[in-house]
Amino acid sequence: MNKFIFSLIIIFYLIPLTSCTSSVSKNEPPEPPLKDLHSFANFSEIDFKHLTLDLIVSFEDKSIGGSATWDYKIKNNTVNYLTLDTRDLLIEKVIDQDGNVLRFELENPVEYLGQALNIEIKETEGSVQVFYKTKSSSEALQWLSPEQTFGKQQPFLYTQSETIYARSWIPSPDGPGIRFTYEANIQVPQGMLALMSAPNPQKTNSNGLYEFKMEQPIPAYLLALAVGNISFKAIDERTGVYAEPTLLKDAWEEFKDIGSMVKVAETLYGPYQWERYDLLALPFGFPFGGMENPILTFLTPTIISGDKSLLNLVAHELAHSWSGNLVTNQSWEDFWLNEGFTVYFERRITEAIHGKDYADMLWSLAFQDLQSSIHNLPERDTWLKLSLKDRHPDVGLTDIAYEKGALFLRQIEETIGREEMDHFFNKYFADHAFKTMNTEQFITYFNENIISKNKEWEKSIQLHSWIFGPGIPNLHPQFKPNNFLMIDPIIEAVHQNNDFIDEINTSDWSTYEYLYFLKGIQPINSFSLMEKLDKAWDLTHHKNMEILCLWLVLSIEQEYKPAYSELDQFLSQVGRMKFLEPIYEALSKSSLGLLGTQKLYKQKANNYHPIAQMEIKHILKIK
Ligand code: BES
Ligand code: ZN
Repeated sequence: MNKFIFSLIIIFYLIPLTSCTSSVSKNEPPEPPLKDLHSFANFSEIDFKHLTLDLIVSFEDKSIGGSATWDYKIKNNTVNYLTLDTRDLLIEKVIDQDGNVLRFELENPVEYLGQALNIEIKETEGSVQVFYKTKSSSEALQWLSPEQTFGKQQPFLYTQSETIYARSWIPSPDGPGIRFTYEANIQVPQGMLALMSAPNPQKTNSNGLYEFKMEQPIPAYLLALAVGNISFKAIDERTGVYAEPTLLKDAWEEFKDIGSMVKVAETLYGPYQWERYDLLALPFGFPFGGMENPILTFLTPTIISGDKSLLNLVAHELAHSWSGNLVTNQSWEDFWLNEGFTVYFERRITEAIHGKDYADMLWSLAFQDLQSSIHNLPERDTWLKLSLKDRHPDVGLTDIAYEKGALFLRQIEETIGREEMDHFFNKYFADHAFKTMNTEQFITYFNENIISKNKEWEKSIQLHSWIFGPGIPNLHPQFKPNNFLMIDPIIEAVHQNNDFIDEINTSDWSTYEYLYFLKGIQPINSFSLMEKLDKAWDLTHHKNMEILCLWLVLSIEQEYKPAYSELDQFLSQVGRMKFLEPIYEALSKSSLGLLGTQKLYKQKANNYHPIAQMEIKHILKIK
């Protein structure tokens, strides 16, 4: 056995014993150790206070290298090691605050979780500086070639740290319940701009060295970096848009109302606490719709539709500035506290801007999706409180956390009234700002602040069934937006006869009426109906990617060949998982078959983020 491990074992077993015997007086039970199923970090013993990054980004080696320094303080005197999460990192050496070399040990890799990095520490308070390099297999990093960018001239890099990917580019205590402040010096090639989840530069400088200082404590999953040929255009004094120069004008036009959206959000949940709110429109490969990196939301360019119809996604990421970033789920089993709250807030922001009927269209479409997700998921995965032992936290990324979570909050709202609801949330954010929250703590807080006021509410809220039970409880909100009621007879008529498609008056339809209609007329089973729809609305070349994606899936199911070249192009360009998943799934069930789809995927895989590659490989049963 390695000496270092051996000495750790001695330390684990002996020191607590000696310290127990020496602690004389009180019989207080020790604080239960805080646990995180997905992190090796010993955060119940060590306070990880501050991170300093000194990193060089090399596009030639496709590697980030340098050091991560953790200022720490031990919480009890028994511990003399510090454990960080790592995955696929080359650890070169570790030194302390005085430059002394520290012994370290990388444990054997554990599936999904990577390797614990144990560092021997000699002081109760000090710092450890870990010198390291990322490998090409780092799951957080997507290195784009110039051809994969809008400008086609320079490469681009971005990170995606949620859920447990921060450890693949920074050795870190990578659990959502562990917060720290950070600063960073990032060296990038000259001519490029570096941006982080921190106050950001607005201009490219001449030497490529950028400094960041994030003074609010955040968890590791909110660490983010983007590097490329990026420009900035202000919206107002607090908000602005970053994008590649060729995309910047369109991105700014689409997002220019975000300044007032922040104000709307503030009227709902209290002051915005992160000073600036900027948006970064990324190249097409970005695997998500958006990621709520503090101060700088990362966005897919697929929401730039030209008519601002997909801005609810920005409302969603903005809402995370409260639910998620300010009050953070303590573990990934409490993920609904991040996402369910955020969807509810997203809809409230959307309602405040566009009115109730518009927001109810979103609720209604989401409700349909939720029902089909519940149908397809194992029953235990339909509880709000997840069970993730020995599972990757990304399995929780389903409609349950998002839509069942949000629906539960709407059920609460419908029971207690909006005024009471808003008062509750304002207090919730004020009481728990920059802290973590788990499901059990939420229940206690909710009982103390709401149920104690009126016991009758309990019956209609059925809190326990929502959180610890399957599916949708019997009492739940219902949605019938007027705009959809008007479409129902048209859908009905299409099932009888579809000669009149080109006569349907769609002049006041938004994206959501189209989606409702196209979902409502299924199953289509008619090539001529596909042709009529395409002729009427040019769906094969639709600018709105939500509509286009739905159309491409229908085209695969119906073997509608006129859409195939667009489909091929889409798969070469767009890396957003929400679109790729249903498309690859439909392809594997089409006449192309699983093998044919696997072959096609392999040609396209290079365009996708490592996280998206993993997901699609899973769908296509590729090892
Ligand atoms: N935080 C999520 C993205 C995420 C979750 C990444 C878990 C990795 C693991 C983000 O806020 C999100 O929910 N994005 C959605 C937006 C949609 C629900 C409006 C997306 O990307 O589609
Ligand atoms: Zn979210």
